[in-house]
Amino acid sequence: MKVMVIGGGGREHAVIRKLRENPDITELYALPGNAGMAGDAVCVPIGAKDIASIVSFAEDNAIDYAVVTPDDPLVLGCVDALEEIGVPCFGPRSEAAKIEGSKVFAKDLMKKYGIPTARYEVFTELEAALAYVRSCPIPIVVKADGLALGKGVVVARSREEAEDAVRESMENHKFGKSGERLVIEEFLEGPEVSVLAFTDGKTLVPMVSSMDHKCAWDGDKGPNTGGMGTVAPNPWYTPAVAARCMEEIFLPTVQAMNAEGRPFKGCLYFGLMLTKDGPKVIEYNCRFGDPETQVVLPLLESDLFTVMRACTEGRLGEVEVKFKDDAACCVILASRGYPGSYEKGFPLEIPDKLRQQVYVAGAALRDGQLVTNGGRVLGCTAVAETLPEAIEAAYAVAEQVKFENAFCRRDIGRRALQALAEV
Ligand code: AMP
Ligand code: GLY
Repeated sequence: MKVMVIGGGGREHAVIRKLRENPDITELYALPGNAGMAGDAVCVPIGAKDIASIVSFAEDNAIDYAVVTPDDPLVLGCVDALEEIGVPCFGPRSEAAKIEGSKVFAKDLMKKYGIPTARYEVFTELEAALAYVRSCPIPIVVKADGLALGKGVVVARSREEAEDAVRESMENHKFGKSGERLVIEEFLEGPEVSVLAFTDGKTLVPMVSSMDHKCAWDGDKGPNTGGMGTVAPNPWYTPAVAARCMEEIFLPTVQAMNAEGRPFKGCLYFGLMLTKDGPKVIEYNCRFGDPETQVVLPLLESDLFTVMRACTEGRLGEVEVKFKDDAACCVILASRGYPGSYEKGFPLEIPDKLRQQVYVAGAALRDGQLVTNGGRVLGCTAVAETLPEAIEAAYAVAEQVKFENAFCRRDIGRRALQALAEV
């Protein structure tokens, strides 16, 4: 079968590696992919948001199945367009991807169906939003309604910071149309857990839990990033918490989307905060997380392609979805300066023996040499029997694949280890 994966980062590399385990897949394409994954898939220079070209490529190459991974094409209707020409897909249609595409939609959905989340207000007028943040309790969280490359959320710890966030979004249009409407919500406290789940719109099967590290620097300091590293499983996510999430959050979300006439198929990502009043939803994503996928999929024992097709065909209840009992850690090697401006084009060497442990997020080919080409460049990943071993092994990989101007957080997994001691 001919399969194409839309997207080009480390998450897509992890999906591609896992798909390759299925011998029925004879040809695997990445659109656009990146030069660092060329050994695992044929990279085709078509952008993930160029839906017309994606559809033509699928038609011209008789593609049998598509995995649409990033948020933009999902929200823009890539799955709808491919299904129209008869290509089955893993991923939600646009109407369901709205659960990530609009925070106002997601918050209203949770309110309507009683799914626990932070209290919030929605604003479309600058003056009203400013008046609100001048009087509300601090800290407060300001969120752009639409997609903003993971940068549309500000946790404001002072009134000034909250006002700045409102002005940046509504007055200076930092996020374009995405920031014309704001959700301003209550600040929640507690450990954060990411749970990705397979769903066919009826059955929902959570994957192994994970923990992201969003801040750029050690000790959770510095600017917010797409994610600087992950570990799985997340020690805070005990069986009791998992059972409660299933009953109060996961299944109600699937049912709510059905009730709204927006059945969700694909990977639904729950960003959760375990507050003293129980688990609450911080955010939904309509897709695999990055870099959560880089620790979750290496722990998947079952065949990914089989599970994905079962989601597409509404048969998820009939297939086995099994995870290894091991632990995994992914350390992101980024370009110095990220998430701000950074230089690109530094040569990149990945020793052959480590290739299977490195997911390439941002690389290009220059005169036959692999060079850095992004903020997040590599995800160094290891699986081991225990979390401390996985963390150590992931850092050992990171030590061996360094490139000029690289940096990584030195404390990925540290909080998880502390949690292990506490839980
Ligand atoms: P998001 O882009 O929605 O994942 O938000 C980025 C980060 O902001 C989350 O991972 C949380 O750490 C933090 N955050 C978002 N919403 C809240 C909230 N209501 N209370 C506290 N922290 C939050
Ligand atoms: N790592 C968080 C995300 O993918 O949104």
